[in-house]
Amino acid sequence: MLVIFGASGDLTARKLVPSLFNLFIDGQLPDQFVVLGASRSNLSDLEFRNRVVFENTFLKEKTTDQTTKEDFAKHFYYEDLGSDYNSPYVSLSERIKALNELHKTNDNVIFYLSTPPSLYETIAKNLCEAGLSEQEKGWKRLIVEKPFGYSLETAKNLNKGLQQYFDEKQIYRIDHYLGKETVQNLLVTRFANSIFEPLWNRNYIHHVEITNAESVGVGKRGGYYDTSGALRDMFQNHLLQIVSLVVMEPPISDSPEDIRNEKVKALKSLRIMKDDNILAENTLRAQYTSSFVGNEQLKGYREEEGVDPKSETETYAAIKFFVDNWRWQDVPFYVRTAKRMPTKVTEVVIHFKTPHHQIFQRSDVNHKENKLIIRIQPDEGILIKFGVKVPGQGFLVDRANLDFSYSSLTESHIMEAYERLLLDAMQGDATLYARADEVEAAWEFVDPILQFWSSGDARMYGYPAGVWGPKNADELIDGIGFWRNPGPNLTDDTDFCVIC
Ligand code: BG6
Repeated sequence: MLVIFGASGDLTARKLVPSLFNLFIDGQLPDQFVVLGASRSNLSDLEFRNRVVFENTFLKEKTTDQTTKEDFAKHFYYEDLGSDYNSPYVSLSERIKALNELHKTNDNVIFYLSTPPSLYETIAKNLCEAGLSEQEKGWKRLIVEKPFGYSLETAKNLNKGLQQYFDEKQIYRIDHYLGKETVQNLLVTRFANSIFEPLWNRNYIHHVEITNAESVGVGKRGGYYDTSGALRDMFQNHLLQIVSLVVMEPPISDSPEDIRNEKVKALKSLRIMKDDNILAENTLRAQYTSSFVGNEQLKGYREEEGVDPKSETETYAAIKFFVDNWRWQDVPFYVRTAKRMPTKVTEVVIHFKTPHHQIFQRSDVNHKENKLIIRIQPDEGILIKFGVKVPGQGFLVDRANLDFSYSSLTESHIMEAYERLLLDAMQGDATLYARADEVEAAWEFVDPILQFWSSGDARMYGYPAGVWGPKNADELIDGIGFWRNPGPNLTDDTDFCVIC
């Protein structure tokens, strides 16, 4: 049984129900599954079914067969929690019991918290007091949505708060980037091949670049975003999760704890920047301003709905940092994330060093660097850039591509991130969920940056919506070159822009 708190909210309709529907069609859900929505709206079971199944525009129609939807919707129920989340969960508990008996769900329950984070601890407490965290009969798991805390201190308090009522092993902190096939494939690329890992260190890697760009602005989420910003919204969680997979040492096995132990070690080895001068040199923040893209006038961030017109919240964050361990000493990492960029793309670029001794005099310097590009989205795949001889006299070197694209694997269905994560939680596999110490280690690195940015000493730059960040974006990688500004296709040449 999946009990969703905050079930009348956006996430349920946009992500959770469509993912459950895909799992249902693929035959991945048990015959007797139950979804019980719980929130403060006054809805009947029927109204809830209509809202999240029949009238849900996000529910991609894999099938036009109405009976499939009807069969699916039959598993959905709704419980009105009344005026707040903090009254004893007596009727909720009775409802769970009754549905458990009706559908024979063996007392196995996942509680999914999709409410504002300020309610997480309250809900956990009330569940515990109603005996709903006890695992004597069946298992009980708690999935917690992001944001997980607002700072190191609040994240620690939240961890402590939840752990009073549920064991750490019962708590599943969701980070939907870990549910992406291509993010998981970082582990496979590194540890199931013998050709990459020997090069995966300071002897061969010159620097690592990670870009997460979105073409959209903050849309209707201005109110939330303005209290968060790019660093909290994307960097602290999704991007540092990717960093940990790039940085980590080989785990002993693929068990959740072995993998998560190595990820924590990786996050703990990020060099924390505390000095204001270092923070000023190694971090860059900016906000998008109004501009024309094509025929459309795009609003500036400060004009967006729900955003303070004097807001100092960043929509662009770029951070340069080092990793203090044996493998990565002196290798710079450049990581950026932003909204209102020319395209939507997330990729990891491993820039290899040039050969120790250069024998070809006529090589074009820009063409010599080897790169491994791991495309997280879109056009998911892997690209290796290497030098080839230009046919003809002498030794002119040009750049060539070797690429693999996920779309070539037509026979296998790529699960959406939430499908995979929900299924893993049902099966008790926490590998792709963040552990308490992982989340805290990530905050430990991010906290001083946030403090510096809010101190009034850090500049806030502007960039017109639709370009690759502020004019001085490349200053961060001064001496090394430029950001790779990729296009929507993996093999596009760089500096992608939109003219009309
Ligand atoms: C969410 C952020 O966690 O991730 C959003 O809150 C962002 O601001 C989204 O747009 C991006 O996810 P994806 O999967 O589209 O890259």
